[in-house]
Amino acid sequence: MDDLLEMAVENVSNELDEALAGIVVHTPFSVIVPTYREAENIPLLLAELDVLRQANDLKFEVLFIDDDSNDGSVEAVKESGFDWARIVVRKGERGLSTAVIEGFRQAQHPVLICMDCDLSHPVDRIPSLILMLASGQQMAVGSRYILGGSTDDDWGLFRWLNSRIATILARPLTRIKDPMSGFFSLRRSDFQRAEDLNPVGYKIALELMVKCGFQNVGEVPIAFSDRVHGESKLSLREQLKYIQHLRRLYIHKFGEAMHLAQFLVVGASGVVINLAVLSALRVLGSSNSIAIAGGIAVSVITNFLLNRRFSFSYARRPEIMTQFIGFLGASAVGILVNYFVAIYVATYWISDDSRFGLQAAAVIGILSGVAFNFIGNRFFVFKKRHVRNQEAEES
Ligand code: GDD
Ligand code: MN
Repeated sequence: MDDLLEMAVENVSNELDEALAGIVVHTPFSVIVPTYREAENIPLLLAELDVLRQANDLKFEVLFIDDDSNDGSVEAVKESGFDWARIVVRKGERGLSTAVIEGFRQAQHPVLICMDCDLSHPVDRIPSLILMLASGQQMAVGSRYILGGSTDDDWGLFRWLNSRIATILARPLTRIKDPMSGFFSLRRSDFQRAEDLNPVGYKIALELMVKCGFQNVGEVPIAFSDRVHGESKLSLREQLKYIQHLRRLYIHKFGEAMHLAQFLVVGASGVVINLAVLSALRVLGSSNSIAIAGGIAVSVITNFLLNRRFSFSYARRPEIMTQFIGFLGASAVGILVNYFVAIYVATYWISDDSRFGLQAAAVIGILSGVAFNFIGNRFFVFKKRHVRNQEAEES
């Protein structure tokens, strides 16, 4: 970025903070900090918060939600001697997001702040997060990816890429630049209205944005610094949970359309499976018609199972065989069209020595089956009645 521009942005945000500091002083807030094995960082974070508190004459409480770390975290909070800091130890349960929710439930002040314990989040941005609420936003997020925000240079390529991909996947849910952030503010009253909070993994801010239906979410630029003590708990397992979490949020936000989207993704996977089975059978020496039939049979079964598991997962009660027969019934004609078109194309259009001829025939068969199902439904099952013309004729 242009140096001058960068400087200007910095000055503006400093001036803004100063000008609006008066509003912050009168807003008591609760800082919720999920912790797991952060004994070393707790005194450092508390010291920074205390500096902020004294400099601006702020009124807040700090609530650590610790998952039974047993590493001296409880002692660290006690020894600080700050009467505005306390720690809650959860036994049995574990998880960053549920810890944050627990903290929000126990918080006593009307504004809630969530932040990490490892000093990655700059304490001096808290006032800006609160100002954003005062200026009409429903939520404010400390953002690495807007003008003036940054991450430490030694973020490995893997972590950076990972974070960017995760952010892109969240685009349909929110327009903000850094929905993965774990540093944010919101009103307690909005939190209390949130329905069926059910976060898995790490993305608690995203969960709140979607489940509270926030339209106005603001971003405050932050410089995200790497942790100095201890290590990140963001394992690969946590990252995989993100996919599961996204699916839930998509369903919450898009309802019916999600069933269709999943149905299409499953259908696409069916094409891949069909071609793989067909190619394998061919290599093993079976005839064209057996290979085509085998590809169709296996993909029909995997499509059924995947649709049952994902697209229509709300309907897993009925007996699986009954459902399978229903599924076959609904797609029978399409399957037959698929089979016979593929055989026809393979026999009459494709020369025996062409490299992917059989696969091409199978794809044409699949497309014909899908087209047949669509046309059949569009013009016979769900045909338009031309209501207006009919009325005109009758009268
Ligand atoms: N109670 C509790 N239980 N706290 C936890 C748990 C848990 O199972 N796992 C992690 N924490 C706490 C940590 O002690 C720390 O205070 C905070 O949650 C963040 O954990 P880190 O392990 O430092 O996470 P990170 O640095 O990889 O991820 C951070 O940045 C991401 C964006 O890059 C977090 O802020 C993420 O929310 C954020 O998406
Ligand atoms: Mn961290």
